[in-house]
Amino acid sequence: MARFSLFSLLVSVLAASGVLAVANTNESFSFAHPLEHRIAYAGARGMFVSWNTFAQLDTPTVWYGCDPFDVTSKATGNSTIYPTSRTWNHHVKLTDLKPNTKYWYYVSNTNCYGCSELPMYTFTTAREAGDETPYSAAVAVDLGLMGKDGLSNHVGFGGAANPLGPNDTNTIQSLLMYKDTYDFLAHFGDIAYADYALKESWQGYFGNDSLIPNKTSIATLYESLLEQYYDEMQPISAVKPYMVGPGNHEANCDNGGTTDTVHNISYTVSICVPGQTNFTGYINHFRMPSEESSGNGNFWYSFDHGMVHWVAIDTETDIGQNLTSPDEPGGSENENSGPFGTYNQQLNWLDQDLASVDRSKTPWIVVGAHRPWYVSAKNRSSTICLDCRHTFEPILIKHNVDLVMHGHVHVYERNQPMKNYNPDPNGLNNPSSPWYIVNGAAGHYDGLDSLNAQLNNYSVVATDKVYGWSRLTFHNRTHMTHQFVASKNGTVLDTATLYKEHC
Ligand SMILES: [Fe+2]
Repeated sequence: MARFSLFSLLVSVLAASGVLAVANTNESFSFAHPLEHRIAYAGARGMFVSWNTFAQLDTPTVWYGCDPFDVTSKATGNSTIYPTSRTWNHHVKLTDLKPNTKYWYYVSNTNCYGCSELPMYTFTTAREAGDETPYSAAVAVDLGLMGKDGLSNHVGFGGAANPLGPNDTNTIQSLLMYKDTYDFLAHFGDIAYADYALKESWQGYFGNDSLIPNKTSIATLYESLLEQYYDEMQPISAVKPYMVGPGNHEANCDNGGTTDTVHNISYTVSICVPGQTNFTGYINHFRMPSEESSGNGNFWYSFDHGMVHWVAIDTETDIGQNLTSPDEPGGSENENSGPFGTYNQQLNWLDQDLASVDRSKTPWIVVGAHRPWYVSAKNRSSTICLDCRHTFEPILIKHNVDLVMHGHVHVYERNQPMKNYNPDPNGLNNPSSPWYIVNGAAGHYDGLDSLNAQLNNYSVVATDKVYGWSRLTFHNRTHMTHQFVASKNGTVLDTATLYKEHC
């Protein structure tokens, strides 16, 4: 706890004194040193490059080029910050790039004096719609900080199980080890679990100093945990587009509060600090291609990559039809967040976006949505989003969506293609219903959830004992394969191939 406070104090003092811009306090660290590199597709010919620094930058700049010895193209962007953030978020959009082409890039102050590394990274732009070259993508949902201040070799109170052994590879390590097997990483919500700073405090995870948290300690811890997570992800997110969607843990602190059962203290949203509320950190940290797809911020958007039209939707707010979304005021999660659009804006957008898909170019449609409606878990409103099914499912059926990936429930469950609670009679052999897979088993401080003893009739394969991620491989216009990869050793525990005629 002490090290967070001292460092935060140092940053705060320097920030207040205005000397952070190029401050070098020693030979090993510059406050302008770029951290937390991340990239994201920005339409067919674009790429977002984002990073953080402890110092404000005059003009966030990215140099790039498709020849490593001629990295001379230049683009500039902007920076954002919010009241409790210790770092600035910098965002630059590169445009007019060549499709499916490798570029080299580096950002402002990469070559600063005393920096611990002098990175130049690479990325590969999106495959053009209509490019039928096979490829794979990785999907991880409900992925938290892996390491000393997050998931380690034990879990918090109430976690059902911690399958991570002392020498096992965790999910971030696994995604890094296998990064050459996928083009990009999609993470449909619950990113970092920094909001567990509250729970981790009273459970003594940071030592006795933090047992009774307050707003100051929570603000410092929350930002520190976010920084740790994004630093851990950098080896992946700097070189592979990291496409994210909103989850409830981007909305508030620990599901709107927690009860310290040791000291008998109930914490409510009143202890939440600005960075945690209303998706503030999430909004500041990422840039998703909503402008390119007429979507809305980091909440709903789409992009094409080769044979696939990818869609991210928001189950946390704005589910439409006058229904109260889980994270909105009055919703099941007590998060008091959003909405972010006008009445039915997301539903209308989804309908129009899917209607505009040219299936001759992108025969496959994959939708990522954080909160599930088909899952063998406790039937609680905070777990299963029946209202989401009510508003989204008719649109997904109408437009013959091929695959829906969910998380939120921390298990792996591969279901049948489904329509209105009914398994498709064709199964995976050219169904007319979307195929549903829940994979919220990436891992975090609380370990995994428990499946119901009696699985639903549409459940095919399920486990609540293993951390893992999904790899989707699109072979051609008619066949795609989903694999569930065990993080601890890379073993593929489940493989299933979907056939769709797509004529
Ligand atoms: Fe969630």
